[in-house]
Amino acid sequence: MTTTLPDSIRDRFPLLQDAVYLNSCSQGALSVEVREAYQRYLSDWDEKGAPWDLWVELNEEARSRFARLLNASTDEIAVTTSVSAGVSSLLSGLRLTDGRNKIVMSDFEFPTIGQNVHAQELLGAKVEHVSAGPDTTIPIDRLAEAIDEETALVAITYVCFRNGAKTDVKAVVDLAHEAGALVLLDAFQAVGAIPIDVRDLGVDFVVGGTLKYLLGSAGLAFLYCRADLLPSITPIQTGWFADEDIFEMDIHDYSPSATASKFESGTPPVPSIYAGVAGMDLMDDIGIAETESHVADLIDQLIVGLDRIGAPLVTPRDPALHGPMIAVPSTDERAMVTALAEDGILTTPRDGNVRLSWHCYNSAEDVEAVISGLERHSALLAR
Ligand SMILES: Cc1ncc(COP(=O)(O)O)c(C=O)c1O
Repeated sequence: MTTTLPDSIRDRFPLLQDAVYLNSCSQGALSVEVREAYQRYLSDWDEKGAPWDLWVELNEEARSRFARLLNASTDEIAVTTSVSAGVSSLLSGLRLTDGRNKIVMSDFEFPTIGQNVHAQELLGAKVEHVSAGPDTTIPIDRLAEAIDEETALVAITYVCFRNGAKTDVKAVVDLAHEAGALVLLDAFQAVGAIPIDVRDLGVDFVVGGTLKYLLGSAGLAFLYCRADLLPSITPIQTGWFADEDIFEMDIHDYSPSATASKFESGTPPVPSIYAGVAGMDLMDDIGIAETESHVADLIDQLIVGLDRIGAPLVTPRDPALHGPMIAVPSTDERAMVTALAEDGILTTPRDGNVRLSWHCYNSAEDVEAVISGLERHSALLAR
């Protein structure tokens, strides 16, 4: 181990006193700071009644945090309640025309992307799926075959929620742009764990939320839309927070904001914003780049341990091809997750695998604990 990251931060997460927490791919651990933020929400409610100005201010605060996180401008960020909300608003505005009505999506997409993309078939879109190759990543040549001059949109995920594989986003963006298609990146399993720079990636749309590696809670998410695309996209799915002037309370026309706010909907998720901003502040303090390199060290150590006990993994071993989650196949992943939980090791099951996800607060001792746990329950490991 080269870093001492967890020593300085573990005491901010009470849960870690009693558990080995390897479930940040589902939800980040609760920190003292986020608990206090919820308390602040309740106190403000109690003391101020209905402080709408403060809530709007907080919504703007969330927007600027997301913008900073992605190296975007605030006008390019919609503050949403979920990835689903952002994506459905975006797709409702894309107007896939006859000449360009195809959406290419990887088989690594989260269900909400599948649902939203296939819903477009009702409006005439064609959808093509691109499956994973033998190395459990989405091969760039399969994407190249699928993306053609009819392709309007390519939907990819940065880090797959099923197996932890990481996509070479820049390579896909180059391919798509060459064919005149736009790229939607689902970064939920990456944001907070991997530094993300939308300018560097060249991507057109990015979605994610605060629930996982940004240490917030459910209910706060974002959609990034590249500035020069904003004038050409007018969502049909909308709400009063998408208006060019929400305080005008106008009911006589549809006048969406010129900024990415046009993808917003109704009343902002106020309690989740208190929590999400506190989570993002915490990750600012801890450092996302520092977290990425700390987690890379832990995963190196984990893979050595998995090899030692003869446990397979379905995640690519190459550090360039995986994110902060490693998936270990099991003959009965639910039973394995339950057995590990009884040992105080919290993980999640998915698709025949146990997901082990790593964050700033995990330690070398956590790696040894899960290796011992998997070895103890080795009858449940797939071989
Ligand atoms: C990759 C990915 N996308 C999206 C989501 C969730 O989407 P939503 O915010 O719509 O619930 C998750 C996790 O819950 C996820 O892992």
